[in-house]
Amino acid sequence: MKPAQDLFEVIERMPPLPDVAVQVLGIVNDPEYSLDGLVSVVRTDPTLTARILKTCNSSLYSLNREVSSVSEAVSFLGTRNLVKLVVATCTSSYFQQSGTSAYLSPKEIWRHSIACGITCQILAERSGLDEAATAFTAGILHNIGKIAISQFMSSFTPSLDALELTEDGDFLAFERSFCSMDHAVAGSLVLDRWLLPTSLRRAIRNHHDENLIVADPELTSIVHIADILCLQEGIGVFREDLSYEISPLAMQKLGMTETSLEKTRSRLQKELGRSEELIKFV
Ligand SMILES: [Fe+2]
Repeated sequence: MKPAQDLFEVIERMPPLPDVAVQVLGIVNDPEYSLDGLVSVVRTDPTLTARILKTCNSSLYSLNREVSSVSEAVSFLGTRNLVKLVVATCTSSYFQQSGTSAYLSPKEIWRHSIACGITCQILAERSGLDEAATAFTAGILHNIGKIAISQFMSSFTPSLDALELTEDGDFLAFERSFCSMDHAVAGSLVLDRWLLPTSLRRAIRNHHDENLIVADPELTSIVHIADILCLQEGIGVFREDLSYEISPLAMQKLGMTETSLEKTRSRLQKELGRSEELIKFV
């Protein structure tokens, strides 16, 4: 295949999400979703079912008997963990399609996405939002634009020189100058082609735009804080010398303080340790 001329072409070429993933994301992003509805969709997909059972029976959960059905998996994992596992399974194939470039490795983008999903879920629960599953999905998908950028950059010789273009290490400025848009905008163009809730697409589109963070619902602030917090923890960092700052307006929007941020950091580290199976998907 000939190299893409621009990022728009890469986005156009990106395959749609599998049907089962679209259905699952549609179900879990409705705050009043039915667990039975989710289980019946999962059951229709042998690959998804097999992966859930394999993860349940892995050493991670140390169960003393084998889990052999999706219904049993629900009672062992609990709804929260099942949703995490299903969303991660449904989206991981998309990250596997990313080309490796000087920009970021697909594995590192995925690791960052899982960490960000977990952080979004923690922040949503902390803020009393009933949309913890939507928050997890937003965290997982917030970097889908980086997949497009990574593919674009891998379509020609990775040039570290080009990465030197930004003297102040402004990562977003680099993306805008090199690819004509940053990963938040690229992500929203990818998501425009999927039938996902508007709130989710808007949160991903605006997560680096301080003016829009305040104009939008809490989900945008959640994605923004989670993204920067994971980068500050060194997860998915593209250039180590880059500095990232959490918007005080986003903190205010969620009623967060430095103390609650520190608590979120330590919860993330604990939950990340229990999410190794998800990270191994890519
Ligand atoms: Fe981001």
